[in-house]
Amino acid sequence: MNPFLWLKVWPWGSTDSTEEEETFDPRIHLDYSPPQKKITMQELLLNQSAAASLIAGTTPFPLLSREGVRAYRRALFQKKVLEECASSPFPGTLALRDVEKQSKFIKDFWTHPETMRIVCEAMGVPLDVIMPTEIGHTNIQVEGASVSEMTKNLNVEPTTEKVELTAEERAYDPLKDTSTIIPWHYDSYPYVCVLMLSETEGMVGGETYIKKGDGTAKKVEGPQIGHAVMLQGGEVEHLAARAKGVKERISTITSYRSAVPTIYDSSYMTNVRPYANLNSLYTEWTQYRLRKLKDEITHYLNRVEEEPELVLDGAALEKLVAEQTDYLQRTLRQMIAPKEHQRILKAYGRAVYYEAPKIWRTVQSLPEFEELASSADKNRTWMPESVYWMDLQSSNEAIRLGRSLKATMGTFTWDKKREYYMGDELLRQGLNELFLDWLGTSGLWDIYHKQA
Ligand SMILES: [Fe+2]
Repeated sequence: MNPFLWLKVWPWGSTDSTEEEETFDPRIHLDYSPPQKKITMQELLLNQSAAASLIAGTTPFPLLSREGVRAYRRALFQKKVLEECASSPFPGTLALRDVEKQSKFIKDFWTHPETMRIVCEAMGVPLDVIMPTEIGHTNIQVEGASVSEMTKNLNVEPTTEKVELTAEERAYDPLKDTSTIIPWHYDSYPYVCVLMLSETEGMVGGETYIKKGDGTAKKVEGPQIGHAVMLQGGEVEHLAARAKGVKERISTITSYRSAVPTIYDSSYMTNVRPYANLNSLYTEWTQYRLRKLKDEITHYLNRVEEEPELVLDGAALEKLVAEQTDYLQRTLRQMIAPKEHQRILKAYGRAVYYEAPKIWRTVQSLPEFEELASSADKNRTWMPESVYWMDLQSSNEAIRLGRSLKATMGTFTWDKKREYYMGDELLRQGLNELFLDWLGTSGLWDIYHKQA
């Protein structure tokens, strides 16, 4: 027998012994205590919309035991998980997606009835995981210039090593220094649970700020190791301060929607399209959307079977049809053709994609803005055959009637201070790549780009 081959298969000589993942057991891996405080929409001076829970978010609460954290990290750092799931969306950051397809432990943990009960209890409403691909989305900040360098620096045992901070870093205020934050935004999905898998002692930053109704910000501390925090991130505008002072920071995230029919589901795929495998994302998305539609129809049908005279109430039926038509249409609009998506991302860059709303605000202050935007829409120079022109028309009709519009940035009513352009419409729908494409065709991008 070849001695080298023998060495390779012998467990002492390989790393395989550490790669076996454990079987999820809530008695061993969970260590839950309810959040000490739930922050209500009311105390943030925010209106509760039809989609919303009364709760905007929770303070951090213990969820995974010491063993649970290590078992989760062991599951994540398996060779097959890193090989299949890792990409680097930004320098110094690794993102792991679709981990539940590679790790039974992670899938079982998030979907276990006990874990589901905990997250529902925290937000005070019944929740469903959005779709399998959104289970355990993991962000890793670790040293290393490439994916392979970064993955080499990952160990099951969380590091307690700290990084010296400069006086400036220690004094840092995320509300003033905007270079070290994920800026104000709404999430793509209604609810989120963020679970911390790293030691946070010595860490500066990592907290979340929620924008209150009066414009001030409420600070929510970041979770420590094994703890989780929940947020109604699709409804409340929030900002995340990046963490400094630690060698690694690993957080893992699962997103949810309400499991109750008749409650509006404000999900979009805007934030995930740039780094997801679009084919598998769209497959899961379609299934989840059709399932939700089926639930809505079944719910209405059950009511009508119990009270047949309900069908004579035209308004109820009209509401159902309008809402579900809108839901189906949005389902489709979110599925930008992969080729188109890649073409535009290549032309403009991934960073610019996420800055689309900010770019739009800047562009509006250009002296050429009204003229170029208006002529682009009048002449339909951008995608003249597309369905988006119908969408623009129907939004304009809603504006004329004084109705509110649903958008990636919450529900809004147009103030009519200027014309409503295709740029507004594409951003409302969270189609950032198409927005950039329209901006390019209008000539506004060139002017913006020269100034930036
Ligand atoms: Fe967020």
